[in-house]
Amino acid sequence: MAEEAPVFNLSPDGPIGIFDSGVGGLSVWREIARQLPHESTLYVADQGHVPYGIRSLSEVREYTKGITRFLLARGAKIIVIACNTASGAALRTLRESFPGFAFVGMEPAVKPAAENTQTGVIAVIATKATFQGELFHSLVERFAAGVRLETQFCPELVELVERGDLDTPETETALRQCLTPLLKAGTDHLVLGCTHYPFLVEAITRITGPNVTLVDPAPAVARQTARVLDYLNLRAPVTARVKHTFFTSGAPEAFETLAHRLVNFDGDIQSVAWHGNELQTTD
Ligand code: DGL
Repeated sequence: MAEEAPVFNLSPDGPIGIFDSGVGGLSVWREIARQLPHESTLYVADQGHVPYGIRSLSEVREYTKGITRFLLARGAKIIVIACNTASGAALRTLRESFPGFAFVGMEPAVKPAAENTQTGVIAVIATKATFQGELFHSLVERFAAGVRLETQFCPELVELVERGDLDTPETETALRQCLTPLLKAGTDHLVLGCTHYPFLVEAITRITGPNVTLVDPAPAVARQTARVLDYLNLRAPVTARVKHTFFTSGAPEAFETLAHRLVNFDGDIQSVAWHGNELQTTD
């Protein structure tokens, strides 16, 4: 059902809203900032609720609606859901709740993996919730008909990335557990179906070796964002003053350290808190 009288402030000068449960969406933010250097962004990390992957669909939907209202109130002209779990759970609900507003969602990149496999075996790693969503089932039906598709959910990985444990023995053990059956099955394309995982690429590659191609959808999501902005005539002018602001519902100091380490971000970081279903800045 549509939210009551949503007011959109759609100006080419407005920022791109981006959100995730935590730092994972920064792998998408990084691509958007690289491909669309004249665009400003507002990034929300809902670290007060991370991980989304173990929560119910209705909880995730409520969070994403609250984040959307927060971003709309700050002039977002488009919203990129930089989270596979939230896209699977809530993309349709958000489009219904905010009709006429543009959302770019994400899905595990099964299509390019299926098109390029040589062994005929591809694998997706993602959160449990992503595999349970209808979006994933439709992806498999549409694109994986001629290949063998292996799946694994790796419950610890999101929290390890949130802690900044990108290459510790604990991370290596969790990755080996998750990846070994996929490698034994003959996988040659591994789809990173959670936006936290691109930050583990070095550790993953050490385990998979050079013959497995890792597929990260972030570049395609940034290209899609550009296409939608063009279609809506909402691209920022090249003269735009670019500003990036990050918000977290978790601990801002920890987020700042990690954002610097993961994507070299040194800009404005603000603390936000949930009041019921509404996200508000804390001053
Ligand atoms: N980054 C996320 C994804 O792409 C969500 C991880 C989580 O919070 O469980 O699925």
